[in-house]
Amino acid sequence: MSLQNIQYRPTVAEIDLNALRHNVKEIQKRVPSGRSIMAIVKANAYGHGASFCVRTLEGCGVRDFGVATLEEGMELRGGGIRGNIFVLGGLLTSSLGEFIQFRLRPVLHQVDEVRRFAAWLKESNRECQAHIKLDTGMGRLGIFPSEIEDLVSLVKNNQLLKVEGFLTHLARADEEDLSPSERQFILFRELRRILAEKGVTVPICHIANSAAIIDNRLDGFEMVRPGIMLYGAYPHERQRTMIDLKPVMKLKSRIISLKRFKSGSPISYGGTFVTGRESLIAVLPIGYADGYPRLISNKGSVLIRGKRAAVAGRVCMDMTMIDVTDVPEAAVGDEAVLIGSQGEGQIRAEELAQWAETISYEIFCGISSRVPRIYLGM
Ligand SMILES: Cc1ncc(COP(=O)(O)O)c(C=O)c1O
Repeated sequence: MSLQNIQYRPTVAEIDLNALRHNVKEIQKRVPSGRSIMAIVKANAYGHGASFCVRTLEGCGVRDFGVATLEEGMELRGGGIRGNIFVLGGLLTSSLGEFIQFRLRPVLHQVDEVRRFAAWLKESNRECQAHIKLDTGMGRLGIFPSEIEDLVSLVKNNQLLKVEGFLTHLARADEEDLSPSERQFILFRELRRILAEKGVTVPICHIANSAAIIDNRLDGFEMVRPGIMLYGAYPHERQRTMIDLKPVMKLKSRIISLKRFKSGSPISYGGTFVTGRESLIAVLPIGYADGYPRLISNKGSVLIRGKRAAVAGRVCMDMTMIDVTDVPEAAVGDEAVLIGSQGEGQIRAEELAQWAETISYEIFCGISSRVPRIYLGM
């Protein structure tokens, strides 16, 4: 008997692959044909399971995928993914042979890195396609505009390094004020023009993340890089009505204990919640070790029998208490939805993120490996 397939604990993350298909179709509707979509599937597809998500996306015609690390790329290629896999985090290694062996495309982000990779290609007489990242204001990875001269001479003098694309990353596209993004767009266009003037032209330039795609900032570039929107979350509240995205992940559990407490009873560590009336308190087998943030203590709610019921007291490592006094029909074994829909009710990851003072990205990535992913719509 394989212990891996046994699951006693009713806490799971359902991954709806039809919702993923819907979201990618929404993106495809916006992106004119002839331009490509690099689906960002790093960090295990933002916690949704990279292998299943990539297979589903391949089925929808997506051919380009972005991961953060060489390991993530090798795992996808080893699992039989045929599309182009871009390693966004750069070389991150001295064993460059893996990029060739696993047919991965590095995103190079420093002049020295370009030099090192080009030299290695020359030494081993191999050729490899790569994209190069420019820093237009993100303040993270990328070559500064002031280093363009060095870059140009490297690219022109190393024929085995096939530079297929230039990219840059937006720092503030998910805000109300779009002027910081606008400045990045202008600089990126200008850099493309300068590079072309100096004799370096590439077929693909890309800048747009989810927020920019929703805002229709495609600007004639040949590729877009959606991440969070694939998984059904909106980068900014103002974008909720601009595109129809369906949440892919549903996080759910079941009531394992239900007790009546007298008024004045403390609940959970620290007694930070004290019942103000005779109360019915449910226990859910999910806690911060599963990625349900402790900051949600006394702030968040869950759906039980289609109604919202509040988190009572501190979220524990493996359990969370819920005040179900106003859901008197609640019973042991009832489903509780922590992210997703139940009846008329819905809790989006964005809302959970607000309670936890973070972003939906961190919520998704934080759902730990202890929570089994169950795939629907395979
Ligand atoms: C380089 C790069 N491009 C694209 C994305 C996708 O961004 P989003 O999830 O906001 O669409 C990311 C995500 O962090 C990224 O690092």
